[in-house]
Amino acid sequence: MKTIIGKNTEAGLKGRSLIEPDDFSLKELEAVLTLAEQIVKNPEQYMDVCRGKILATLFFEPSTRTRLSFEAAMQRLGGTTLGFAEPNASSTAKGESLADTIHTVSCYTDVIAMRNPKEGAALLASRHSEVPVINAGDGGHHHPTQTLTDLLTIRSVKGKSEGLTVGFCGDLKFGRTVHSLVKALSRYPGNRFVLISPSELEIPDYIVSRVLKPSGVPFTTMSRLEEAIPDLDILYMTRVQKERFFNEEDYVRLKDSYILDKAKMNLAGPELGVLHPLPRVNEISTEIDSDPRALYFKQVKYGMYVRMALIALLTGSILPEAGKA
Ligand code: NCD
Repeated sequence: MKTIIGKNTEAGLKGRSLIEPDDFSLKELEAVLTLAEQIVKNPEQYMDVCRGKILATLFFEPSTRTRLSFEAAMQRLGGTTLGFAEPNASSTAKGESLADTIHTVSCYTDVIAMRNPKEGAALLASRHSEVPVINAGDGGHHHPTQTLTDLLTIRSVKGKSEGLTVGFCGDLKFGRTVHSLVKALSRYPGNRFVLISPSELEIPDYIVSRVLKPSGVPFTTMSRLEEAIPDLDILYMTRVQKERFFNEEDYVRLKDSYILDKAKMNLAGPELGVLHPLPRVNEISTEIDSDPRALYFKQVKYGMYVRMALIALLTGSILPEAGKA
């Protein structure tokens, strides 16, 4: 197997799991992003680094981008993948516990990416695994690899992850990508948040009391996107998370709370960057897809590169710089 000495990478990531963005120090997050930037520039150099290694993708919830980008990432590193895209295809349907499923899969593979509808499932999985577990979304809780994707995209246009006014718009209550990105951006100096949602979909209290308040990051809450948009550097749009609602009626009432269209984009500055983890339903009109400020398809591509960096580091396929080990 060919190994590459990566620049600015950390010894500490080999064998580690990623359940929440806080599991990595800022230096470690930066190491993943820096390696991802190197891969973006020169992907051929990395096409063999995971030869002989296997990634499991265990998806107990629907996914397009996350699962396929994990699989594409491992294949582009020269490794292979196995897994399932829906739980009925596994022994979960026979009543097997998550702990036993994970223990089993970790006997066959080098790293596991798992998505599960239950909050805390990824943490539990990491305790029963012999190999690193990557949380690909646990219910309405966290989605740290989407955060890596978002940070890489923000860095590509702003050159930094700090000193930014970031608007989060839509379902801030159930949107796990919001929870993870808020947590990560709160750790960088000078960021400021504008939280735009209907009152029923406000960011959970635990994020306010355990993340926003302790970090001291300034934030305001608003219900109108038109009011917030002129001041933003980044606008993070989200889908109303239908699958986490208790009744259809509430979903129908709230689903079209925000629709970003040309008229609203006209109120924004020329340097705004619009992100969305996708899938979108109605919340971004396709008429703005060709606006240079729309970054969500760039984000899709970066999701694959950042997962390449993460897999390479967690599996120890890219060695840390001599002297740091
Ligand atoms: C997000 C998710 O699954 O949380 N999608 C993704 O992974 N890119 C966002 C969503 O489903 O709304």
